[in-house]
Amino acid sequence: MAEIISGTETSKKIQAELKDEVTQLKSKGITPGLSTILVGEDEASKVYIGQKIKVCEKLGITSFHHKLPANTIESDLLNLINTLNNDPKVHGILCQLPLPKHINTDKMLLAISPDKDVDGFHLLNMGKLLSKKSMKEIEEEKMYLPCTPHGIIQLLRRANIPLSGAEAVVVGRSNIVGKPVALLLMAENSTVTICHTGTKNMAEVTRRADVLIAAIGKPKFITADMVKDGVVVIDVGVNRLPEGLCGDVDFDKVKEKAKAITPVPGGVGPMTIAMLMVNTVKAAKKLSGVR
Ligand code: GUN
Repeated sequence: MAEIISGTETSKKIQAELKDEVTQLKSKGITPGLSTILVGEDEASKVYIGQKIKVCEKLGITSFHHKLPANTIESDLLNLINTLNNDPKVHGILCQLPLPKHINTDKMLLAISPDKDVDGFHLLNMGKLLSKKSMKEIEEEKMYLPCTPHGIIQLLRRANIPLSGAEAVVVGRSNIVGKPVALLLMAENSTVTICHTGTKNMAEVTRRADVLIAAIGKPKFITADMVKDGVVVIDVGVNRLPEGLCGDVDFDKVKEKAKAITPVPGGVGPMTIAMLMVNTVKAAKKLSGVR
């Protein structure tokens, strides 16, 4: 029977560590501030933004929320980002994705100051991650790591899952999860394979995995016949079915073969938010010149 790796519990520990750090910063006159932007009415995005704002409040981080209508023109969004880039109370800026189709996501991401890019999605920050070889180099650079991939690595580390020399298979090649988590696993010395819609005989590849990251966006896509006994499974999927939320992994069957597995909900989701808070505190320190 698999160990259930709880993102809820791990994120609580990280939040407790951060709360102390926020208190210390406040005693120096620095209150970390996060600006969130939501364009349109996507229901899932509203829930995610609500959760992020709630955790800000819990930790003493000021949140500034900007809710824009779905028909917002691109230049208005870029102007708002420019204003926030120049607002000293704002240390981090997060514009929730996906954006309405008429707005160019790449342009929006490039508009956010790399110093306030707490999502780690700006090309400069993505390029920095690409250019580093080891976790030591990444940690020394004090860069903003993308929140979900960073949350996954923290979850694996804190669950004492060996990564050095492990066969890691990532299913999904998105810019938000698949590609950056593959880079981080490589920096942890894992041997990494990425599977995607063009992969032939995917089950043959996934069965090699000591650590399997499922970031596909298809409910219960990873079935028990696709994993080996003793695998560690991280399920990034959040799929809304009539019967409730489910991940990209057929949890009930796969957990019978796995050594450890994350649940949905309560796995990767809370870790993404915790890492956003880590980046916001990092941004407040960086922009105020505190070490
Ligand atoms: N949409 C889904 N995940 C994310 C995320 O981590 N950041 C932003 N900005 N949008 C998202």
